[in-house]
This record gives sequence, structure tokens and C-alpha cells, in this order.
Amino acid sequence: SRKLCSYMNSEYSDKLIMLRDKNEYKLLKLKYNEALRKMSEKIDNIYMLYAINGLPRPIEHKKMRIKSDEQIGRKLYQKGCDITVSNVYDYVGDVAGIRLVCLTKRDLEELKVVISNDEELVIIDEKDYVNNPKESGYMGCHLIIGVPVYTIDGKDYVKVEVQIRTLAMEAWASLEEKICYRKMVSENVREELKRVSSVLATVDDDINRIVIDSLEIGFGSDKTKGKDACYVRKLQKK
Ligand code: GTP
Ligand code: MG
Repeated sequence: SRKLCSYMNSEYSDKLIMLRDKNEYKLLKLKYNEALRKMSEKIDNIYMLYAINGLPRPIEHKKMRIKSDEQIGRKLYQKGCDITVSNVYDYVGDVAGIRLVCLTKRDLEELKVVISNDEELVIIDEKDYVNNPKESGYMGCHLIIGVPVYTIDGKDYVKVEVQIRTLAMEAWASLEEKICYRKMVSENVREELKRVSSVLATVDDDINRIVIDSLEIGFGSDKTKGKDACYVRKLQKK
């Protein structure tokens, strides 16, 4: 495991190895697993709620992952934080992560609201890279959510990062990751990526408009005809 930590100095990697053996850390990882499972179940329920009400599916794909110990160590190292259990809890917001990929920007907005309406959850932070893309051209919406988990010591909230992207935003992030990840890239390539990002943003607006128009006119399958996705929100409020 020392090899995996080659980016760190030896003091750091020793601390990471020690961290892994701590019961407190094992308990924290257990909590992240439970929070991720719970959040995933909530998302599946939202999906089912749409289906039961004959609404077009709001999610195309769902992916989840728990950060490895090495990745957690690297994150703390990059942030200049000491490798301790409480620093993982406080400073690593994405130990548990779920990515939702949807077709339209409206689905994205809708999911954001439906998730925020869940009174069991606490929205700790929201990053709106849809309306404010990152300098790189990255687009997406990130919610850092406090998910309650229960242990013999009682209730604790741990963070789950929910990233919501459209298919076009996902395509861009995938492209960028493939060509830039831990590589030096030229200024030309960076400019090219920014250009692609803005083209995809207009594509997203077109997709959004086409889908909304078609729903209003009543195209689509008989089951979904005339039904607006906001219907689910209204249902939730009852
Ligand atoms: P991290 O410490 O890397 O998590 O960044 P942060 O705490 O500043 O959060 P931010 O919201 O900027 O990014 C979190 C996640 O969004 C990353 O782990 C990626 O999954 C994704 N992301 C952010 N920027 C980019 C980007 O430029 N390209 C790609 N491909 N993904 C990005
Ligand atoms: Mg991250």
C-alpha cells in the first residue's frame, strides 16, 4: 500500500496506514456506506414515483461510489490537512458520491427540488455549475447532502455528494477527464474544450425546449401525455 501513496511524503502515507486501522475510521466508513445506500434508495423511490404516476423517467443513469482510502488520503494531502478521522469527516465532502445523469435541464432542476423537499435530508452546500460553469467549461449541479445514519451512539449526519448532470454535461466531463486527467494539456486543447462546453450548453437548451414543447402538445406515449413532471412535486407536498 506504500506504493499507492507514492504522491505523498512518507509521514503522510504512514499516517494513512495508521488511519485505516483505527476503529473510529472503520465506523466512519460504515456510516458512509449506510448513507450512500440510503440516498440511493431515496433516488430509486423518486424514480418509482415518476413511473407510478406515468411520468417520463427523470433519470437516465445512476452511478455510485465510495472513495478509496488512498483517494481520501490524497484529498486531505492536497488540502494540506492532517490525516485524521475528524478531518475526513469535516473536509472530505465526497467520500460517498452519487451521480445522476438525466436527459434535460428541467429534469436536473426537478431532481434538485424533489431531493431538497425530503425533510430527512439536510442540504449542506449547493454548487450550481449549470448556470455558472467552471473555468474549465465543466457543467453540472452538486449537492452536498447531510444524510442521517443511526449507530449505537445515536444519530449522526454524514455527507453524500450528489452530482446531477445532463447527458451532454456528462459527455463533456467524460471527454475532459479522458484527455486531461493527470496530464498536461496545451492551451489550444483547453480552448477547444471550452468551445465544446458552450456548444453543448446550447444543445442542452434545444433538448430542453424540444422536450417541454412536446409534452405540452401531448406527444410522447399515451401514459405520459399531457402530464407535467412538476406533478410529482405537487404530489409530494400533499
Ligand atoms: P474536489 O476537491 O475535486 O471534489 O473539488 P471541489 O471540492 O472544489 O468540488 P467541485 O465541485 O469543484 O468538484 C467536485 C467534482 O466535480 C470532481 O470530483 C469531479 O467529479 C467534478 N468536476 C469538477 N470540475 C471538473 C472538471 O473540470 N472536469 C471534470 N471532468 N470533472 C470536474
Ligand atoms: Mg470529488
